[in-house]
Amino acid sequence: MKDYKRYTVTTALPYANGPVHIGHLAGVYVPADIYVRYLRSKGVDVMFIGGSDEHGVPITLKARKEGTTPQAIVDRYHSIIKKSFEDFGISFDIYSRTSSKTHAETSSQFFLDLYKKGKFITKTEAQYYDEEAKQFLADRYITGTCPHCGNPKAYGDQCEKCGTSLSAKDLIDPKSAISGNVPVLRETTHWYLPLEDYEPWLREWILEGHKEWKVNVYGQCKSWIDAGLHPRAVTRDLDWGVKVPLEEAKGKVLYVWFDAPIGYISASKDLKGDDWEKYWKSDDTSLIHFIGKDNIVFHCIIFPCMLKAEGSYILPDNVPAFEFLNLEGDKISTSRNWAVWLHEYLLDFPGKQDVLRYVLSANAPETKDNDFTWKDFQTKNNSELVAIFGNLVNRTMVLIKKYFNGIVPAKGELTDVDKETVKGISEVPGKIAESLENFHFRDSLSEMMNLARLGNKYLTETEPWKVYKTDPERVKTVLNISLQICANLAIVAEPFLPFTSAKLYKMLNFGKKVWKDAGSAELIEAGHVLAEPELLFDKIEDSVVEAQIARLQETKRLNELNAPIEISPQKPETTFDDFSKMDLRVGKILEAETVPKANKLLKLLIDTGIDKRTIVSGIAEYYKPEEIIGKSVCVLVNLAPRKLKGVTSNGMILMAQDPKGGLCFVSPVEDFNPGSEIK
Ligand code: 2FM
Ligand code: ZN
Repeated sequence: MKDYKRYTVTTALPYANGPVHIGHLAGVYVPADIYVRYLRSKGVDVMFIGGSDEHGVPITLKARKEGTTPQAIVDRYHSIIKKSFEDFGISFDIYSRTSSKTHAETSSQFFLDLYKKGKFITKTEAQYYDEEAKQFLADRYITGTCPHCGNPKAYGDQCEKCGTSLSAKDLIDPKSAISGNVPVLRETTHWYLPLEDYEPWLREWILEGHKEWKVNVYGQCKSWIDAGLHPRAVTRDLDWGVKVPLEEAKGKVLYVWFDAPIGYISASKDLKGDDWEKYWKSDDTSLIHFIGKDNIVFHCIIFPCMLKAEGSYILPDNVPAFEFLNLEGDKISTSRNWAVWLHEYLLDFPGKQDVLRYVLSANAPETKDNDFTWKDFQTKNNSELVAIFGNLVNRTMVLIKKYFNGIVPAKGELTDVDKETVKGISEVPGKIAESLENFHFRDSLSEMMNLARLGNKYLTETEPWKVYKTDPERVKTVLNISLQICANLAIVAEPFLPFTSAKLYKMLNFGKKVWKDAGSAELIEAGHVLAEPELLFDKIEDSVVEAQIARLQETKRLNELNAPIEISPQKPETTFDDFSKMDLRVGKILEAETVPKANKLLKLLIDTGIDKRTIVSGIAEYYKPEEIIGKSVCVLVNLAPRKLKGVTSNGMILMAQDPKGGLCFVSPVEDFNPGSEIK
């Protein structure tokens, strides 16, 4: 790790239009918090920034839908998000928000600085406008069909189905998300950052200078740069956002992705006062952005170009972007309520923050998308936290209490197994640190657990509970070393499991230590008095996770029930003459039986009024033969005969097909005679 004097660590600002879920946590906030806690333990000066992203069209659309103001929406979610992060132990130095006064001033000044330096170009172009709502339709205010994949619900800035970035004019059949009307084109002027001017510099800075960035991050940057960069609009015709500070820009605000990353700077000003600049403008500061993969282009290309254009800021040293976390095999989705919400988890699992932190770190989607399942959550708690970490600490504490009244015994002469274990202890902090400094969170977590495993192996090999009867002196050494492992765990587990670490410090009656203390087998002196042993973790029963799974199943059932119905489009026009060629009659089912080796078909004998004939129909999944005898149905009687599974069918029964999959007869509502014509 290069020697920096201080660190500025930022986390993607979540949109304040919904609460935070496990996908956000696993991909951004938990790894960032682990990293920052580790840096603090190393004694590094670190500033950890979080906050709510309170602008953007999704927020105004939500407000419109609920009949309230955007400010009311962001106030509601900002406080839910802020509180849930606090309760979950995400140790921000500040959790700010982009509707703050400081942010309005900072972002508008940033725009003005670039404007004065001539860093923008303007373009006057026709854009979609809703004449009824009297408003231009930016980004998500417009929907239509994606020209790439045919998704009929693509947005003006992106198609969520195929992931393509779009511009509103790419959409087929555009519609206003406000009124549903077809928009018109109207001219408007906007300010653009000409990203193409920065291409040579980006190539040098990222493609040559940051080959150490994660493969997914480097790869995305390279493909953006290679595809050719274009001017990027930084203003919008909207009334929710930071006002563009120019006379000629009335009714315009900064584009949300222009103001949001400046939110990191505004938050730093609120936190540090006049001291903020050294965290952003000093070469001995390392700037690290923790984000999800959908934010890579903004943090690696657009925001750095803004910083470069301004000229006095440092650039990100690393951007460890994570892939996505799925839930029970399905993509997490706010609109489908397919998520585990942090504020709900905290209510359902009080005191179990570290269990979720552990499971999310162990499954962190570092290099590929990953899955969270409740069964795995239970297994990781019961078989790892309880059976490995908790078990070591509990056995050590209980045995010291039992044999030595809770007073730490002194070590005697060390045997080979003792020496090997002491050496093992000394190696752990370095291994964890190396993984953390390379943003390998899963490896670092397993190195931390390996220390607990080392302790359990040591106890199993030395069996103090047996040896005590014959050699209590030997047990003193064993329990002393075992306790030193627990004390080391209190230090090195702190970044990952801060609540557990605090409990452990308390049980050990141990003053707070720092990273460099870890690795020693002399952390706690002989004669030190321990506090009462307590269980660090407890088992999670089947019924608990089954209740969570049942909740998700209910969500799935409701989603299916409410799923929009896809109606098949109208067929091309036909003529009355063509229609009249079909001879449709009322018929009566006289007999019905299954067709051997054809589980979808029923063989029916139909009285058509003209004759009694056999018709084979694909209705066996919907009707039992005995249920339908005597029913009146509609029959196409002049359809050419055809053979189905060896039986000749002389006509066709008309059926209605529900788009959700059901099938039923189309029958006359009154009991008409067979042979009655249908016209
Ligand atoms: O993708 C998102 O959720 C954005 N609100 C992230 C913004 S990060 C930063 F730029 F503020
Ligand atoms: Zn698409």
